[in-house]
Amino acid sequence: MQKHILLTGASGTLGRVVAPRLSAAGYRLRLSDVKPFPDPIPEGASFVQADLADGAAVSGIVAGADAIIHFGGISAEQPFRPVIEANILGLTHIFEAARQGGQRVVFASSNHAIGYYERGRTLDTRDPMRPDGYYGLSKAYGELLGRMMFDKHGLESVHVRIGSCLPAPTEARHLSTWLSHDDLERLLIAAIEAPETGHAIVWGVSANAASWWGEDDAARIGYVPQDDASRFGLLPEPGDAIAQRFQGGAFASDGYSRDD
Ligand SMILES: NC(=O)c1ccc[n+]([C@@H]2O[C@H](COP(=O)([O-])OP(=O)(O)OC[C@H]3O[C@@H](n4cnc5c(N)ncnc54)[C@H](O)[C@@H]3O)[C@@H](O)[C@H]2O)c1
Repeated sequence: MQKHILLTGASGTLGRVVAPRLSAAGYRLRLSDVKPFPDPIPEGASFVQADLADGAAVSGIVAGADAIIHFGGISAEQPFRPVIEANILGLTHIFEAARQGGQRVVFASSNHAIGYYERGRTLDTRDPMRPDGYYGLSKAYGELLGRMMFDKHGLESVHVRIGSCLPAPTEARHLSTWLSHDDLERLLIAAIEAPETGHAIVWGVSANAASWWGEDDAARIGYVPQDDASRFGLLPEPGDAIAQRFQGGAFASDGYSRDD
């Protein structure tokens, strides 16, 4: 039977990439965003405009879905107040509604949850999080919320620490952080279809030869990346010394004020 998937943040950059792909892969989609969906609605899909900060509206969009792909929210460094509304309050509404309905949540976490590790250091997902701002901190909250929801209520979730999801890498950092659109699709389908996930954390990254990211739960959910940024050769190194030093790149240098 066709699975019915709620995709939040559908009108954003990645939502618009995955909506037609998941529809073509046979999923029935309920798309949602605070902004209208700018493209033709894929076949068999519907769109509901909703603000994640509105708990009743979130319960409404979650009801009846088989699983949730949660992309909605602030996706760049911003002051704490706007980040709270979408990424803390809104995310909590998603998990609370999923707890009622029992839907697995696939959450778009981010490399910015670990952005203050220096480049070149190999990490696994058990290393302590080192967020590079309020945005990254909100993703750390999401991963811990999923942990609590599984430990306390048995609600499953897959936390995808997305690196740089772009049609092609454009700078040196992306040789380590790139996630191709095809691998994003593979990863989401694996996260939806895995028989059991528990609380899983997976690097949202392609099979890049220069990756900084090691052990995770990819094998447990059946994600096998197939692309590799190294085929794009040498790429430019933009940004200041702080951006070039840390895994979070420009987010790490945004507002940096340490005297070192
Ligand atoms: N693009 C990447 O490489 C990347 C990297 C790491 C993490 N991520 C995460 O993946 C997800 C998708 O990224 P994206 O690049 O498409 O971001 P995006 O900013 O283009 O899309 C996010 C969408 O969320 C919607 N949104 C914001 N606040 C909302 C609210 N209160 N209620 C409902 N909808 C709201 C926006 O309208 C937007 O359409 C985000 O959660 C982002 O943090 C992306």
